[in-house]
Amino acid sequence: MKDANLTRLTIRRPDDWHLHLRDDAMLAAVAPQSAAHFARAIVMPNLVPPVVTGAQAAAYRDRIRAVLPAGADFTPLMTLYLTEDTDPADLAQAHAAGIAVAAKLYPAGATTNSASGVRDFERIRPVLEKMAEIGMILCVHGEVTDPDIDIFDREAVFIDRVLRPIRRWVPDLRIVMEHVTTADAVDYVRDTHRNLAATITTHHLIINRNHILAGGIRPHYYCLPVAKRESHRIALVQAAVSGDPRFFLGTDSAPHVDAAKLQPCGCAGVFSAPNTLSCLAEVFDVAGRLRKLEAFVALNGAQFYGLTPNAATVTLVKGTPVDYPAQITTAEGPVTVFDPGFPLHWRVEG
Ligand code: NCD
Ligand code: ZN
Repeated sequence: MKDANLTRLTIRRPDDWHLHLRDDAMLAAVAPQSAAHFARAIVMPNLVPPVVTGAQAAAYRDRIRAVLPAGADFTPLMTLYLTEDTDPADLAQAHAAGIAVAAKLYPAGATTNSASGVRDFERIRPVLEKMAEIGMILCVHGEVTDPDIDIFDREAVFIDRVLRPIRRWVPDLRIVMEHVTTADAVDYVRDTHRNLAATITTHHLIINRNHILAGGIRPHYYCLPVAKRESHRIALVQAAVSGDPRFFLGTDSAPHVDAAKLQPCGCAGVFSAPNTLSCLAEVFDVAGRLRKLEAFVALNGAQFYGLTPNAATVTLVKGTPVDYPAQITTAEGPVTVFDPGFPLHWRVEG
């Protein structure tokens, strides 16, 4: 059957390889949204204070589990936030105990709650060597923070200044370049045949920088890395729908209350957990590549992380436009849901 004729698609239950669940009231509000559609998620450690030690990751994992709806089929996969003082022994112990599957490298100041990130990458070399030795994955926020580098160039410059050197020092380290936004990053990952993969967000498959800036400024589309020009978006779509196992979904669903987004200096982050799968099905449908959706959302990431794909399935059904809330309510205030700018025809059946 040609993709164009598909109206039902059953795939393995998806995983989200990059997710912000926050803490406290926000966690309680957003965790069920991801648990409704995803079996597992790599949970980002950029809380305040950050999740640095194995003990902090275990405690955070327990707080997540405590707010999941009864019977939810959702496993949080925890990450440690790398600092220049990270103790390789604590990290190795957390990995061996199954508490942390990956560690996250934020260049200091690159994004929301990244002040404790790394300034001098040489200083984490012993940690990276330990991670390569024990097979722990490094998740990377791939942007330089140098004020002299234009914000639209920060990902491409990061590849040359940081990622290439790290890969030369520690070639056995398995790295996920997260939320890639440029053709440069897609090409770099595609040309690398060992130990490197990339996540792509839902929103970067849909918006380009015009959506943020043309005809008025739209804070709900502002995230980091910031969306780039249309040619880059097209490169991301091509990578996502290609089935290439080095590209997989990390939604980077990153809730901030509207009061924090709608500011003279608003927060970066797009909240897409409630409608992400419907958005993705639409993108793959329009590209005529629905048959590759399962690889992107449910197979490729598991393979890179060395995990078994989920046995459970979800069915997507095409029909009249899906209703989803424009906002969700949280005890901290409303959070706006990502608006793809077009109707979504694919609904998720259990
Ligand atoms: C994320 C957040 O709000 O925590 N924001 C974002 O724009 N993506 C941080 C991040 O992943 O960079
Ligand atoms: Zn993120």
